[in-house]
Amino acid sequence: MALIPTHRPRRNRKSEVIRNMVQETTLSVHDFIYPVFLIEGENKTIEVTSMPGIQRFTADRLLDEIGQCVDLGIKSFAPFPSIDDRLKDRLAQESHNPDGLYTRTIAQIKKAFPDVVIMSDVAMDPYSSDGHDGIVDPDSGEILNDATLEVLGQMALAQARAGADIIGPSDMMDGRVAWIRDVLDRNAFSHVSIMSYTAKYASAFYGPFRDALGSAPKKGDKKSYQMNPANRREALRELVLDEQEGADMVMIKPALSYLDVIREVRNHTQLPVTAYNVSGEYAMVKAAAQNGWVDGERTMMEVLMSIKRAGADAILTYFAKEAAQVLRRG
Ligand code: PBG
Repeated sequence: MALIPTHRPRRNRKSEVIRNMVQETTLSVHDFIYPVFLIEGENKTIEVTSMPGIQRFTADRLLDEIGQCVDLGIKSFAPFPSIDDRLKDRLAQESHNPDGLYTRTIAQIKKAFPDVVIMSDVAMDPYSSDGHDGIVDPDSGEILNDATLEVLGQMALAQARAGADIIGPSDMMDGRVAWIRDVLDRNAFSHVSIMSYTAKYASAFYGPFRDALGSAPKKGDKKSYQMNPANRREALRELVLDEQEGADMVMIKPALSYLDVIREVRNHTQLPVTAYNVSGEYAMVKAAAQNGWVDGERTMMEVLMSIKRAGADAILTYFAKEAAQVLRRG
C-alpha cells in the first residue's frame, strides 16, 4: 500500500492569500539606493551601451530623473561621475575640487530635493589618470595605501561640504573608514554617515560600470586591494575592522555571486547590511531578456528578492526605477 504523506508543506502554498500570509521576505521601494551616472554638459543623456535602459545624465537631466524617481518613492541615490580625461591626474586632484562636476551636482540635487539622501562615492578611479582607486607609485606600480588616505579624506570632506548624507568609500584601502570618520568629525560633519564597501571583491562584474565612466585601470588589475572572490572569512575580518573604525552601515559587492557572504555578514553584525547589485549583474539580466531567453521583469524581481532574503537591508541597484514601477503596479 502506498504511504500517504503526513506532512504537506503545499497547504501553505494553496492560495495567493495564504502564500502572501506566510511570505518571509518583502521588497519595498524603501530598500533601493539608485546608482546614477553623471556627465558634464547640458540637456544631454547618453545611454550606456552595455547597460540597456541606463543613461549618463548631465546635471539638469539628472534632476529630472531624480524627480521622476522621487514620484515613484525612490529617495536614495548614489551618483558616480564620468570625468573628462583632461581633468584626470595621478593624484586625482579633481576629486576634491569644490566646484567640480560631482560636488556641484550633489549641492544642486540637495537644493532641489532636500529630503533625498545622497550617498557619495569615495575612490580615486573616476579622477585618476591611472584608473586606479589609489595612488600608483610611478616606479613600482604599487598602490600606495597611506598616501591615498590623504586624498580620500579630502574627497570625503568636499562631498560632505556639498551636502552628501552618506559617504561611501569604495576604494578598499586599509584604514580608510577611521581616516574619513576622523576628517569628518574634526570638520563639524559628525552627522554625516559612512557606508563602507566592507567586502568588495575583485570582480569581472564591474565591466559595464567601467565602460560607463571610462574608469578602467590603465595597467594591471585591482587585486592588491579588492578581495579575492574565493574568500569568505576575509569578509568577516573586514567587517570587524569597519565596525571598529566606525562604519554606520556595511556593504557587500557584488551581490549575486556573493549571497553567502551577505548572509555571513548579516549573521555577524548588528549594523545595517547593504548589497550592491552591480553593473554586470544588471547587464546579464537585460541581455538575456532582450534575447527572449528569460522574462526580464520576473527575473529582476527574483534577483532583488534573493538579495534581501540573503540578509541585505538595502540594495544598490540599477533596477531601482523599473522595480519601483513594478511594485507600484502591485
Ligand atoms: C570603483 C567602483 C567600481 C564600481 C563602483 N565603484 C568599479 C571598480 O571597482 O572598478 C562598480 C559598480 C558596478 O559595477 O555597478 N571605485
